[in-house]
Order: sequence, then structure tokens, then C-alpha cells
Amino acid sequence: MAKIAVIGTGYVGLTTGACFAHLGHEVVCADIDEAKIESLRRGEVPIVEMNLDRFVAEGIASGNLSFVVGAAEASKDCEFHYLCVPTPQGEDGSADLSYLEIAAAQIAPVMPTGSVVVNKSTVPVGSTGIVARVMGRNDVSVVSNPEFLREGTAIDDFLNPDRVVIGSRDQEAAIRVAGLYTGVRAPVMVTDPISAETIKYASNAFLASKLSFVNAVANLCEAVGADVNDVVLGMGYDRRIGKEFLKPGPGWGGSCFPKDTIALARIAEDHGYDFTFLREVLAVNEEQFDRTADKVLAVLGDDPASASVACWGLTFKAGTDDLRQSPAIEVLKRVSAAGVKIKAYDPAVGGQLDELAGVEVVQDPYAAVDGADALVVLTEWDEFRWLDFDKVAESMPGRAVVDARNLLDRSQLERRGFDYRGIGR
Ligand code: UGA
Repeated sequence: MAKIAVIGTGYVGLTTGACFAHLGHEVVCADIDEAKIESLRRGEVPIVEMNLDRFVAEGIASGNLSFVVGAAEASKDCEFHYLCVPTPQGEDGSADLSYLEIAAAQIAPVMPTGSVVVNKSTVPVGSTGIVARVMGRNDVSVVSNPEFLREGTAIDDFLNPDRVVIGSRDQEAAIRVAGLYTGVRAPVMVTDPISAETIKYASNAFLASKLSFVNAVANLCEAVGADVNDVVLGMGYDRRIGKEFLKPGPGWGGSCFPKDTIALARIAEDHGYDFTFLREVLAVNEEQFDRTADKVLAVLGDDPASASVACWGLTFKAGTDDLRQSPAIEVLKRVSAAGVKIKAYDPAVGGQLDELAGVEVVQDPYAAVDGADALVVLTEWDEFRWLDFDKVAESMPGRAVVDARNLLDRSQLERRGFDYRGIGR
């Protein structure tokens, strides 16, 4: 079993560390945030992520998982060094590599000879080479091993992946990294670092493109009178298309798709290729936010400023407390700009949000609909389907429901006199 340092304890780093510990490796996770390390040592996981708290607790109990402050402290005794630091979007759309460069510079002087540094952060094409240059050590190898973890199902995605991609010019280092995944049943693909980095970006941008396409198809369905639920079902039976990632919605978001799609367009431009297709994918998504907000405003009549709207769902998708680039927030900003009073509920959001200053966040779905003229569903939390709609009908003077995730049972609502509007149907 190997000794692995994981630098950065965000959802990628913590999942990677906890899962490698689960596979039997000895893992030391590092972060610069002392308070976070203190609470992780007590087994307190700061994010909503299915089973992560259990895996962290098991890792601590077995002695396979520990937490330290500072990258150098973690790396000094390890043979593998996973870089899992953020690569936020810089002002010009390109990824900001400063956290990665700082982490690489910190571990460079302490890593034992023969170590393998593994880039797991999503980094622009060529970054594995940048890390190698920053470290300036020719007795260690630098490889790329991109992650394909979805928030909310990250543990399952790590342990049951569709593939493991390793980008390395050093065959021996690639084989050693592949060995860390013993026990994980998946094809392992070894390629060069630039191709591995491109696989990560192209995968995210492709999935984002698929969603923009599906959202455009939903809009077409509204125009021609088709039902998008049936249309995507019929499309998904074709194995070349596949059933997944075909759900239309208020637009796509999160900490990865918007940032990575913009960054890939930027990478292409920097290398002399105009990837116009991706600009259209992004534009369709912005339009989807606008269209969803317009749908809400349309049911409010001529004077939206005197209307009040209930919103269920704020996170960028269900199963997470992550609000970064949330389509729900994009839509609510637009609705709120028309002067509409909004009360919002989300099972994973505890208090008021700075980015939605005018929106009152309440702690109960029924409190949100109390006095509302319309209800809009913006995140697909399953529990919304099982609420007491008689109670909703009593609390809500209005009858309009805009279901931007096609989540609720239309017939149940219509039976209670609601005017139900989904997406693409
Ligand atoms: C995404 C990718 O799915 C992961 O493979 C990747 O590793 C990760 O980014 C990353 O780069 O770290 P994530 O951002 O957690 O994962 O979220 P997704 O489940 O992909 O959802 C992204 C957005 O698409 C959400 O707003 C979601 O609501 C929307 N979506 C997803 C739909 O509107 N319809 C769908 O059918 C699926």
C-alpha cells in the first residue's frame, strides 16, 4: 500500500483522500485552512456530500487517513502527491493557476526522490509541464490524473468510475499511479499529459453542450407542441446518444461546467483555434436563464412589482449545498430585478444569501408558498415531490406553478386547480 499526500481538502481532495484511505492506502490530507483541518480531524466534513462523512470517519478510525496544515508537512514522507487545489476562473476567462503553482513550490523541496506528483485539479492544457518546471526536480515525475467526480455522488464516482485516465510520459510512473486504483474496476487509460488534460476539458464541455442542446430541444418542443420528456426518452434509447444528461432545466451551472467551458474556449483561442461552437453553447445557457425568468414573470401579469413568488431550490443541483454558478440564483436575480417579492426554500441552505440580497430565505417549503402568487421549482430535490399539495394549495393564493426541472406530478397539481407549466411540454 502507498503513502499518499493530498494537497487541498475541497470536495475533490477530500473525496480522493477518503477513497484512497478506503482502498487501504495511507493518506495525509493537507490544507492551508487551520480551522478546517482541526474540524476534519474531529471527523467534521464541511460540505454536503453523500457518504463522505462516513468514509472520513472510517479512515480516521483505521489510521489510514490523517490531516495536517500545509502542503510540505503532508508531502515530506510520501511517495505520491495529489494536487487537488482550486483553479478558479481568472478575469480573462482562463484558469488561475496560482494555487497550483504555490502548492508545487511548497512541496518541491521536501519530496523524497522517486516521488510522483499527480495533477488532479482541472488545469489548462500544458499545466503538467508548468508544475514540473515550477518544481525543478528531475528526480520526480509529474503526471496528470483528471477527476470525473460529480458533486453529490463523488464517492461512488471515485470507486466506480467509467474510466481512470493517466497522462504521463514516464511509463513507470503511470504504472505506479494505476496501481493506486487496485480494487477499482474500470478501464485504465494511459496517454500523454496534454491529451489527459484535454480529455478532462473536452468531457465537461461535451456534457455542457449536450445540456444546452437538450434545453434548446425543450424550447423547440414548446414551440411545436411536443413533450420533451418523451422526446428525450425516445432519443436516449439510441445507445449512440445514451439516456444520461438529457434532462432539460433552467440552465446548467456549478463550479465546473461554466468555468471549464469558458476556459476551453479560451485555450482554443490562445492556440489559434476559434471554437465558436462553445460560445454558442454558453449563449444558449444564458438564454435559458432568461427564458426561465420570463416564464415566471409571464404568469405574474402586468404588474410583477406587486406580486410575490415562492421558490423551491437554490443549489446548482440536488444533493449538494453548493450555490456556485447556480442556475436558480441566475433565474432569481432576473425575476428579482423586475421588483418581484421572493421567498425561497432549499433543504441545504440555512440563511440569507449575499448574491440575492432582496430574496428572503425561509426554512420551510410551506412558509415559502405562504401568500405567494406563483411557485417556481429551480432545483430537483426529490423531497419536493412528496410535499402536501393540499397544504400548498391552502397557503398559496395564486395558482401558477413553473416547474423548471419537470419534477412535480402535473396531474396531482392540476387536480388541485393549479396552472402547471413545465419545461418543454
Ligand atoms: C461535473 C461533471 O459531471 C463531472 O464529471 C466533473 O468531474 C465535475 O463537473 C468537475 O469537473 O469537477 P458537477 O459540477 O458536480 O460535475 O455536476 P453535474 O452533475 O455534472 O451537473 C452540472 C449541471 O448540469 C447542474 O446545474 C445540473 O443541474 C445540470 N444538469 C445535469 C441538467 O440540467 N440536466 C442533466 O440531465 C444533468
